[in-house]
Amino acid sequence: MSEDVLVVHGGTPLRGEIQVRGAKNLVSKAMVAAVLGETASTLYDVPAIRDVEIVTGLLEAHGVKVSTGPEGELVMDPANVTRAAVDEINVHAGSSRIPILFCGPLLHRLGHAFIPDLGGCKIGDRPIDFHIQALREFGAVVDKRPDGLHLSAPNGLRGIKYELEYPSVGSTEQVLLTAVLADGVTELRNAAVEPEIVDLICVLQKMGAIIKVHTDRVIEIQGVAKLSGYSHRPIPDRIEAASWGAAALATHGEIFVRGAKQADMMTFLNVYRSVGGAFSVDDSPIGGGIRFWHPGGELQPVALETDVHPGLMTDWQQPLVVALTQARGLSIVHETVYERRFGYTTELRQMGANIQLYSECLGGTPCRWGRRNFLHSAVIAGPSKLHAADLQIPDLRAGFSHLIAALAAEGTSRVYGVDRYISRGYEDFDGKLAALGARTERP
Ligand code: EPU
Repeated sequence: MSEDVLVVHGGTPLRGEIQVRGAKNLVSKAMVAAVLGETASTLYDVPAIRDVEIVTGLLEAHGVKVSTGPEGELVMDPANVTRAAVDEINVHAGSSRIPILFCGPLLHRLGHAFIPDLGGCKIGDRPIDFHIQALREFGAVVDKRPDGLHLSAPNGLRGIKYELEYPSVGSTEQVLLTAVLADGVTELRNAAVEPEIVDLICVLQKMGAIIKVHTDRVIEIQGVAKLSGYSHRPIPDRIEAASWGAAALATHGEIFVRGAKQADMMTFLNVYRSVGGAFSVDDSPIGGGIRFWHPGGELQPVALETDVHPGLMTDWQQPLVVALTQARGLSIVHETVYERRFGYTTELRQMGANIQLYSECLGGTPCRWGRRNFLHSAVIAGPSKLHAADLQIPDLRAGFSHLIAALAAEGTSRVYGVDRYISRGYEDFDGKLAALGARTERP
């Protein structure tokens, strides 16, 4: 097997067109939702990424028949859902965070669930306390054992009133996927309302669920007795779209991201424009997208704060920081969602970027990490001439940022861990880089 490394000859502006498909962070959840249906579900425009393979493996381990069709069609038939062997599930231990979302659907279908150790990016502690608390309130018995979580629901699951301490995406999805078939009404307060969650609600509504999204982050779910399969075209991947937008800016290029949708990216687009990037929106129903480019001249520094939706997504932070190393002056980035999401800046510094990390909240809103001594604010002084380096990717989004930095830098970089991390969430990035004129090689 070849080494997991991409050799990048930097300094060439990326120019051309690429396509983004269904959002990773919706597709994987919609695949879990298919377990709740009594008939088969179909998802379209599913990207060929490793997270989809992992969830496919978990579905198949539970007897769901999964088949693929042209152009990213994925059919999931849960007619014969069965209990899976622990060993079969444990093959996926440490690979992703999606397995935790199987709790509710498996409890409803089988009365029992086994959840392996979770994986996902090392960007903070990422506890699952909200998930467990909510499941226990629904009536689940949760037994934490060395091999993973064993759950049962001896008396079924009943609707709950639950307030999240923080509007967590995964916990909101956990409550949605459990409440739809629970007995009675569930009221979730302080829920996350990311576009991917709204799209998951659309999926569940197609299946027969009754879900009301009220103002002020309140979601009310009226449990129903049964759900059927769905047919759904997911929202496009706004994280991937923004990553390519940032790559266009950092490399002085121009990229048309076919499939990107303005409405889901408004906060990003505002920042992009403030920094001095240019974009235009083509909203044709077929073939539309967003064109991103560097219009020439100097980029401007900005002060940013990541936040839950409708704030600036934490997953947009890393690609933006690479572009900010090219802005003239001091930019400030306050990361409020994860406590350790600046680890990747060590490599950027090695490439010549001037980035200092602080444990204080350098933003308008004091956040949870301020008093706990986490280096969660960054000051970026630019512009810096980036030079090539050997880079070890630490996680998915940071990995793509390293790739952007290597593409923007003068000289030849070696980026290690691309298959392990980037292919979890970016479909055919080798092919897309080639289409954009990047000079890369697989040794
Ligand atoms: N949190 C808790 N307890 C919990 C759950 C969450 O304290 O029980 C905390 C987390 O530690 C974190 C914050 O709440 O500080 C937000 O976490 P959240 O639950 O919202 O994140 P997630 O569901 O694990 C999803 C995406 C992430 C994305 C975040 C925020 C998926 C598979 N992952 O994670 O995406 O950054 O929401 O939008 O949907 C990625 O795609 O690379 C990625 C990391």
